[in-house]
This record gives sequence, C-alpha cells and structure tokens, in this order.
Amino acid sequence: METNESKRILSMYQCTGTFTLGNYLGALRNHIKLQQEGYQCVYALADLHALTVRQVPAELRKYTKEAYAWLLAMGIDLEKTVFFIQSQVPEHSQLAWILNCYTQFGELSRMTQFKDKSAKHADNINGGLFTYPCLMAADILLYQADFVPVGADQKQHVEIARDIAERFNGIYGDTFTVPEPMIPQHGARVMSLQNPLSKMSKSDENQNGNISVLDDPDTILRKFKRAKTDSDSQVRFAEGKEGVNNLMGIYAAVTGKSYPEIEREFEGKGYGEFKPAVAEAVIEELRPIQERYRQIVADKAYLEQCYREQAPKASAIARRTLSKVMKKVGLVL
Ligand code: TYM
Repeated sequence: METNESKRILSMYQCTGTFTLGNYLGALRNHIKLQQEGYQCVYALADLHALTVRQVPAELRKYTKEAYAWLLAMGIDLEKTVFFIQSQVPEHSQLAWILNCYTQFGELSRMTQFKDKSAKHADNINGGLFTYPCLMAADILLYQADFVPVGADQKQHVEIARDIAERFNGIYGDTFTVPEPMIPQHGARVMSLQNPLSKMSKSDENQNGNISVLDDPDTILRKFKRAKTDSDSQVRFAEGKEGVNNLMGIYAAVTGKSYPEIEREFEGKGYGEFKPAVAEAVIEELRPIQERYRQIVADKAYLEQCYREQAPKASAIARRTLSKVMKKVGLVL
C-alpha cells in the first residue's frame, strides 16, 4: 500500500503584501498541517510571479521576508519541509522558458486570471502576465509534485500544468509527474467582506473587505462588524445570502463546525451576535501566530540564514528534473 511518505506536495504563495485571511484559510493553514501527515512538502514564495504587476522594489523585498517569517511562525518545519524563495532557485525560470514553447497562445488566452488581471492593469499587460501559467507549471513540475494544495481560484492553473505535463510526456515519454489539485472543503474561496461576490485579495482597493493576518484585534472586529450581509438577519446558508455564506464559511473553517451546527448556534440571534463571534474566532486563531511572528521577523540574521540554506535544497531537486528535460529537448548539458 502506498503511504503519504512517497507523495510530494508543492505549493507557492505570492508575496505582494501581507497575507490575507483568504491565503491563511484557503492555503497556508492546511499546508502546515500536511507536514504532519507525512507528505514530502515543498513550499515557496513566488516573488518572480509578483513581478507581473509593477511592484515597489523595497516593498517586494520587505513583504517577501515578512511572508517567510509568517510561515516560520505558523510552524513550518525546515527539517522536513523545503521552503525557499523562488528567485533564488534559477531552475524555475529555466524550465518556464522551455514550457513556454510547449504551451499554446489559445490556452493561455483562456485563463481567467489573465483576463481579470489584464482588465485591472490595462496599462501594463506584459508578457509575464500572459505566460504566468508556464512559470507556475514549471514550479510544480520541477519537483515532480503529486499534489498541489491551493484555494479554488488556482484550480485552473493546476489544470493547465497537468495539460502541459501530459503534452510533454506524450512527445518525449514519461518526464513529469502529472499533478492533482487539492482543494479544501471549507475556506477554499474566502470572499471580500465588502463585496462577497469577489475573492478576498491583498490588492482589494477597499481594505475593509480584506483581513490581513497581521491585523490587530480591534481592526479585525471592526472589519467583521462592517461586513456586508443582508436584510434577512437569519444566520443560515442559502442562495442570495453571499455575505452571510462567506462569514459562515470563515467561521466553519476556523472552528471546524458544520453549517447546520452554526445555524443552530445562532438560531434566533441576529448578525449583531454572529459577526463579533466570527471576529473573535479569527482573532484567537491568529493571536499565537502573530506573537511568534513578531519575534521571528525581528531576528533578521536568523531569517536570512533560513532562506539561504533552503534554496540549494530546492535547487538539488529541481536540477534533476531540469537536466532530464534539457536532454530530452536537445539542449547540450
Ligand atoms: P496567491 O499568492 O494568490 O495565493 C496563495 C494561496 O492562497 C490561496 N488564496 C485563497 N484561498 C481562499 N480564498 C481566497 N480569497 C484566497 N486568496 C488566495 C490561493 O488559492 C493559493 O493557494 N499563482 C499562485 C502562486 C503560485 C503557485 C505556484 C501555487 C505560484 N506558483 C505553484 C501553487 C503551485 C498565486 O498567485 O497564489
């Protein structure tokens, strides 16, 4: 029987700002747990992906280091898990170029994220934004990942990585493991608190819609109290109640309670009681991590030592795949 030990997991995170509650519930929290389930985990900060949108250089560097510290504070175990910064492992850019040449213009044009981001950044629709999925496919395929745990918004990107892997394997014989997406039951799509029809995102213009993992308790409480709901005032999961559904999803993800349990808990109570309860659960969930984070982020030498030691470990795995690919396509090694 196969065990998890023989399975590899890969996931990565953009570091264009402080992580949101969406990143935390849809991804980070589950990924930390997967370490204890015996998988070989490889995680990284996708700073090259961040360049597809114009960044302030000093801020990108700052956010990258802070994001690294946040994952350490969450309990990433560097003895078991490889955790690095993407740009420090050059194999990602190298494989991405090769995969660009095995990906069709048509399939890249159909990507929802490309359509959304090019609408949002109409003054900077660059080549990187368009070929982003090839870099992401390289991230995944370099490590021969079996599973890619992500929030629901990244499913299409994992699917194109599968298509690219299958196409390449079809031409050159078995080269890449074809990865499966792994999407959580609760928290897979945390929506903006101000516009529950769009996902919670670091780049949300309305910062009241977005909970940052570093927000203090008063801010978290205030943002939840202002969250958009509806005039029905009943805590129940139903079509047309997107704001409440979102809050219930967050509460379920944090407390582990099911929707019927939550509906019973708040029966006869209005949103006036429900919203602070969700806020309180989130505050208590984040509190211990925020405390550890403050210590770790202050220790710059320790942080730097961690990410510098991790990059060669990632590179050693990535290099094996890249060499195989280079040989197959006819490059001189
Ligand atoms: P990114 O940086 O946007 O998000 C990181 C992770 O957080 C999840 N996530 C959410 N989950 C639930 N609700 C939300 N509102 C929410 N917002 C974000 C994302 O699904 C993701 O799992 N392209 C990727 C980064 C990447 C990557 C990879 C991921 C680069 N290479 C290789 C997996 C494998 C991205 O921009 O995620």
